[in-house]
Amino acid sequence: MAAGPGAPRVVLGVSGGIAAYKACEVLRLLTESGHDVVVVPTEAALNFVGAATWEALSGHPVSTDVWSDAAAVPHVRLGQSADLVLVAPATADLMARAVHGRADDLLAATLLTARCPVVMAPAMHTEMWEHPATVDNVAALRRRGILVLDPAVGRLTGSDSGRGRLPDPVELVAVARRVLARGVDGLRPDLSGRRVVISAGGTREPLDPVRYLGNRSSGRQGWALAQTALSRGAEVVLVAANVSLGDPAGAKVIRVGTAAQMHDAMRAEAAAADAVVMAAAVADFRPAVRHDTKVKKGGSDPEPLVLVRNADILAEISADKRPGQVVVGFAAETNDVLANGRAKLASKGCDLLVVNEVGDRRGFETADNEAVILDADGLALEVPRGPKEALADTVWDLVSARLSR
Ligand code: CTP
Repeated sequence: MAAGPGAPRVVLGVSGGIAAYKACEVLRLLTESGHDVVVVPTEAALNFVGAATWEALSGHPVSTDVWSDAAAVPHVRLGQSADLVLVAPATADLMARAVHGRADDLLAATLLTARCPVVMAPAMHTEMWEHPATVDNVAALRRRGILVLDPAVGRLTGSDSGRGRLPDPVELVAVARRVLARGVDGLRPDLSGRRVVISAGGTREPLDPVRYLGNRSSGRQGWALAQTALSRGAEVVLVAANVSLGDPAGAKVIRVGTAAQMHDAMRAEAAAADAVVMAAAVADFRPAVRHDTKVKKGGSDPEPLVLVRNADILAEISADKRPGQVVVGFAAETNDVLANGRAKLASKGCDLLVVNEVGDRRGFETADNEAVILDADGLALEVPRGPKEALADTVWDLVSARLSR
């Protein structure tokens, strides 16, 4: 997707680490979601990914020094005109240069002139990350208002593993979009010390070993809830039904298949939670009979499908709510959204209900969402169409306010 007029302008700084190859995916995800991205690699980064790749993927020329195209004063213009500077990967050396206010290449100069939010995603070997020099530099950058993400734990360049991996590109882009929407201060750890349990995805109710009754939920809204809660400091348990996304770094993920499995996992985890969010699409009914072998078509007419009711997990958790606990439901509606939402809020007994209008190309399998959030006191907060992370943040704003009452 080409960035249109008014598209958010992102400078993607890339410093010289092996994780530079992952920045290609970050760039692709940003441009595909309508961002105008200029890549500013360091000279060392070009040893890992060449300028031609960055130019082709971004649609903009690429330079590493302040001398090319000097008439356009790129070392000042890029920083001044950006809405966000995202450095991924940020090496120990790049962060050290930024701390000292160096301007010895285009990326360092851009960091000096940027007045917009700056996010750095460090990636390096564990020894470098834990070195007192890097620890001090990260602390200095954070004091100055730069959002320095913690690296993920996992396999590093060689055969070793530990803390130092660049987080998943999808997670980096989610953070970038949230910072564009809310600023760095909007990501304060207001859920620190809180345990939140989130359900995501869609249950599948087997008919036989190869067929099931399912729904179109991708789990992306639940993932956005988990990622935003993690970055706001919460301890996160994610109960995921049939979601093909990778585990968000730092969450405890419990994979389930059916509504009954989701029921058991949610009931067990909800007991000790400060907040429970039921974002999953749970099947209301399951086939009365699950055949152990594949049902054959045979020669006669098919047997009618007999269904039995599944437990209503949200209603059960709301009924057993502890004082101070906050329970949030989601509602998928195709028509009479507000009236159906109000009736559902009352019948489920939850504190907040996020009502989505769903249908073809709405709500499911997309990165964007819009909703109305209802509560029993008459709140009807409209959340305009935007990234699922933005809706997730609004949910956490409301939950956080209720938790601190
Ligand atoms: N839900 C649940 N257990 C079920 C069905 C739904 O916990 N057996 C939860 C969902 O996770 C969601 C909320 O209830 O948070 C509303 O789900 P929705 O599908 O919109 O409503 P239903 O209760 O299924 O009602 P209906 O299908 O009649 O609209």
